[in-house]
Amino acid sequence: MCFFLIRPAAGLRGRICFSGDKSIAHRSAIISALSSSKVVISNFPANQDCLSTIEVLQKLGVDICFRKSNNKRFPGLLVTVHGKGLKNLKRPQSGRLFIAESGTTLRLVLGVLAGCNFRASIKVGRSLGRRPMLRVNLPLRLMGAKITSKVRMKGAKSEEYAPLTIQGGGLKSINYKMPVASAQVKSAVLLAGLCAKGKTAVIESVKTRDHTERMLKLFGAPVEIKKNSVSVEALDKLVSPGAITIPGDISSASFFIVAAAVFRNSSLIIKNVSLNPSRVGFLRVLKRMGGKIRIKKYNNKFSRFEPAGDIFVSTSRLSGVNISAKQVPSLIDELPILMVAASLAKGKSVFHGVGELRFKETDRIESMRSNLARMGVDIKVVPSKYGEDVIINAPSELYAAILRSFNDHRTAMSLIIAALAARDESILDDVSCIDKSFPDFLSTLKAILI
Ligand code: S3P
Repeated sequence: MCFFLIRPAAGLRGRICFSGDKSIAHRSAIISALSSSKVVISNFPANQDCLSTIEVLQKLGVDICFRKSNNKRFPGLLVTVHGKGLKNLKRPQSGRLFIAESGTTLRLVLGVLAGCNFRASIKVGRSLGRRPMLRVNLPLRLMGAKITSKVRMKGAKSEEYAPLTIQGGGLKSINYKMPVASAQVKSAVLLAGLCAKGKTAVIESVKTRDHTERMLKLFGAPVEIKKNSVSVEALDKLVSPGAITIPGDISSASFFIVAAAVFRNSSLIIKNVSLNPSRVGFLRVLKRMGGKIRIKKYNNKFSRFEPAGDIFVSTSRLSGVNISAKQVPSLIDELPILMVAASLAKGKSVFHGVGELRFKETDRIESMRSNLARMGVDIKVVPSKYGEDVIINAPSELYAAILRSFNDHRTAMSLIIAALAARDESILDDVSCIDKSFPDFLSTLKAILI
């Protein structure tokens, strides 16, 4: 392991284009694979999680090739997927798949496998093997998939984990009211719904990211969206739109947006980034905190299916904020970096109902609490009617510290921004985990630091 030294930053300046959004990229590859002809995807991010989705689809018999692109506006890969159709995925060799650490790949692919007439077993990497699976297994079982997985007691309740096996086929539709707000679960059920008899509906109490619905519509699927529910019906084929361009990753951009807001002497332009309303909760919160953020060139139909635009951000004086439990799904992946922003803001911040953070690549409540406390932040986790709340009483400045990434990409990137804003040199134990979502994070950051 290589320790990483972080010196305080004087500021940052520049203009950046990001590779495509990770969540949209997973869906673009999976739904293209299920379509009936060729799809060319531009700006596909070359991170470990998205490459893991491509690898799994290849093991299921889908012909996919990719190459680097020279397009500076869309720096991701050019991926060509030769769709196999909804019913033609092939049983993987010896019936086995390995999905290293990508939770989105695992949960979405389970939805696809639920509709396939074969049996497959899925092994996963260490950290993914500790993430809860009952939330997906349960609705897919109700639809008729036969899933077995490792069961462990969690307090008085039992929970299920990978490795698991699935025998798909013969699905019936369900009306499923989700007990936890999860776009991965919603997507797994909708993907299975493409092969189920009747209309499959998912009811959400709080809206989660809607990339699956948008992408399915783009491919001609009969998706119906009502206030709190989304439904889909089986169809003969998904029609390729020919080409898809994935807008830049707003979650990757969030680290730079907060950095530009909290560092002195900073201004930053981010081009062609995803501005899907179900993902930009953290922009709304940062603006409420006093962040100087402007959106320009908003295009509601960027590449026909997802909104995108440019973000301008500059040094700001932030104040504390209250984040309601209802807002959490729209900023779930940005909570660690928002905790850094709150640590540098004036006054108290309260993050309501953030318990789901315990089930990410690591327990992100604990990873952020312990590291920010080391930097001198008064941070508490308290039980509440929303589950768990995090309360931050910001100090006037952050102290340098020896920090731990807990092998989690978003914890590591958040801590690097916190350490750059601290008054002295900090050390982070590991940065290799960042490759999971954003292998170019450090080089992008170095290029704009002044
Ligand atoms: C994702 C959904 C969220 C998010 C994850 C990506 C997706 O997870 O945290 O990084 O692409 O659907 P949950 O569905 O568990 O909330």
